[in-house]
Amino acid sequence: MGKIHGVLNSALFSLSLAGLMLTGCRMPGVPFVRYVPTPDDVVLEMLELARVNPDDVVYDLGCGDGRFVITAAKKFGARGVGVDIDPHRIRESRENARQAGVADRVNFFVQDLFQNDIREATVVTLYLFPDLNRRLLPKLYSELKPGTRILSYQYGIGEWRPDHRVTVAKARISPEESPPVYYYWVVPARAAGVWRWTLRTSRGEREYVLSLAQTFQEIRGSVKGEGTELPIKNPRLTGDRLAFTLVEENRGQRALFRFQGRISGDSLVGSMTVEGGPDAGNHPWMARRTP
Ligand SMILES: C[S@@+](CC[C@H](N)C(=O)[O-])C[C@H]1O[C@@H](n2cnc3c(N)ncnc32)[C@H](O)[C@@H]1O
Repeated sequence: MGKIHGVLNSALFSLSLAGLMLTGCRMPGVPFVRYVPTPDDVVLEMLELARVNPDDVVYDLGCGDGRFVITAAKKFGARGVGVDIDPHRIRESRENARQAGVADRVNFFVQDLFQNDIREATVVTLYLFPDLNRRLLPKLYSELKPGTRILSYQYGIGEWRPDHRVTVAKARISPEESPPVYYYWVVPARAAGVWRWTLRTSRGEREYVLSLAQTFQEIRGSVKGEGTELPIKNPRLTGDRLAFTLVEENRGQRALFRFQGRISGDSLVGSMTVEGGPDAGNHPWMARRTP
């Protein structure tokens, strides 16, 4: 019974929070989410999870009082940009940055987050409403560079499955709050398509063809070569880094092929490690995507 109450309370809390945050439209066509800050401790924990560092440029879309961007600059040495539709929040952010001594590394702009150029970002933070996140998905997915990390407090981004969903430790928040969650994604490179390469093997030079299908960072596919087709196993796409294995069974002999490489445009460069069989060892792997 206590458990059911807990679940109901937490559902009601989420609903009331969502209702509180979504307050209609401020400007024609510009969705508005009311200002509710992410707790300071959680801001720190989220930036730690993303391993924010001095090479990063952190963008907070709907920045409120600037806390994500200011903390990223003060504690992790990053640069940052915050945008908010509310001029009062931007004035507050600039003053907070000045007081924190990071005004030279951060910038704040009054702007609709849908109009903001986010291509420079290496980390993006969000605390918006689910519908706003859903509408933001195409912009995030198409404009951000592979490898950019996205953190969102409380809400997912439409159908894009996160790499991590973290429940905030009770110790981080006030005892009467139900534990909030946050989500983490790494923007994947475009890996889908047909990739070809040749390899010098113990049986001579051979051509291989990898066909990949992709849904965000999830990939599946197979490799054709020497008259056989093998499904790829343990596929992983993290930013521009692709990895998978192939298992070949041939006349009682088993060989394991571990591929790993980095995607840059239509080229893939990395290595193939073979365990077992006549080609055991490390080999360079270079593939091209073909139309
Ligand atoms: C829930 S608050 C989050 C503030 C801050 N990111 C944080 O986590 O503490 C959402 C913020 O988004 C801003 N906002 C809502 N719609 C926006 C839009 N279309 N463009 C820019 N900012 C927007 C609001 O003014 C508000 O400050």
